[in-house]
Amino acid sequence: MLRRLHPDQPDSFAFTPANLDWAKAQITKYPEGRQASAIIPLLWRAQEQEGWLTRPAIEAVADMLGMAHIRALEVATFYFMFQLQPVGSVAHIQVCGTTSCMICGADDLIGVCKERIAARPHELSADGRFSWEEVECLGACANAPMAQIGKDYYEDLTAARLAEIIDELAAGKVPVPGPQNGRYASEPKGGATSLADHVAGRAALNASATLATGIGDTVKRIDGTEVPLRAPWLGKGAAPAAKPAAPKADAPKPAAKKPAAPAPAAPAPAAAAGSKPEMLAEAREGGADDLKMIKGVGPKLEALLHRLGVFHFDQIAGWTAEEIAWVDENLEGFRGRVSRDGWVAQARLLATGAETEFSRKARKEGLYDE
Ligand code: FES
Repeated sequence: MLRRLHPDQPDSFAFTPANLDWAKAQITKYPEGRQASAIIPLLWRAQEQEGWLTRPAIEAVADMLGMAHIRALEVATFYFMFQLQPVGSVAHIQVCGTTSCMICGADDLIGVCKERIAARPHELSADGRFSWEEVECLGACANAPMAQIGKDYYEDLTAARLAEIIDELAAGKVPVPGPQNGRYASEPKGGATSLADHVAGRAALNASATLATGIGDTVKRIDGTEVPLRAPWLGKGAAPAAKPAAPKADAPKPAAKKPAAPAPAAPAPAAAAGSKPEMLAEAREGGADDLKMIKGVGPKLEALLHRLGVFHFDQIAGWTAEEIAWVDENLEGFRGRVSRDGWVAQARLLATGAETEFSRKARKEGLYDE
């Protein structure tokens, strides 16, 4: 397929401030003189921000990396995952048309896209809110037919269900990703035939769907504020507990066969990042929630959370990216655990009274019983 730049291009491109910080941090991962290696992550972030790759975006990324524009254009036009034409402002739907999906009804899904969105792939719908394309196998063949919408997979689709999903997205909702026919994951359609204990004690949604729902950025344009910038090698975000700081990209290289130059001093810990969430002086009436039901929180961490003023799942469930950054920085001895272990996604489920796979197991096995 011939991939060309779209004839209608915007005049300019600029990363949002948070995306620019992120992009600059990515570039420092590569050795001096090899900054061009950051081309794919930077192009990808530009696409996540704008929905598609514009010529100004490709050239801006090339300039950041000191590359000739043609080199960046070669990369952008080579990989099919880079969208070279505008996509729907609400969602771009990628229907898998490879063997399993084709046998199980991909043509019907494509029919829905043609009828509801546009007659041809990569065309915008009349209102500019949707677009679609057929893609090669997305690796979810056991849940065929399926489509990727934004960042997430919608599996075990029917034409009727895909039409409903488009309606829900048009109404501003984001349907729960994962299997759409009641299946938990990719067990047999007639029900699991093994691991019966596991099935009985599992959470309502599989781990991927739980995480996708918790993160909530399925079709969101990414502006960089969704997840705090974590670049511990630059002193931004929490440093890994045991790893020494990596030398900076511009640090002088030690001469061959000479004793290594002393490693650069580890960066001073960053000033408290983010913003402090609202804390409570004490648990509400009825007592604190058992925060140990969040995977990654043990008795010590729970006591620390209480000292900070965190007693309930709904407090954690409501943390913004900035607040997560603050808590991550202030968990003395446990820095970075909120992001690392996905507390917010877990707390959102637990706050509704539902169980996660971990909490169900912890209660069943009395993991923290005295
Ligand atoms: S054939 Fe569709 S996901 Fe593999």
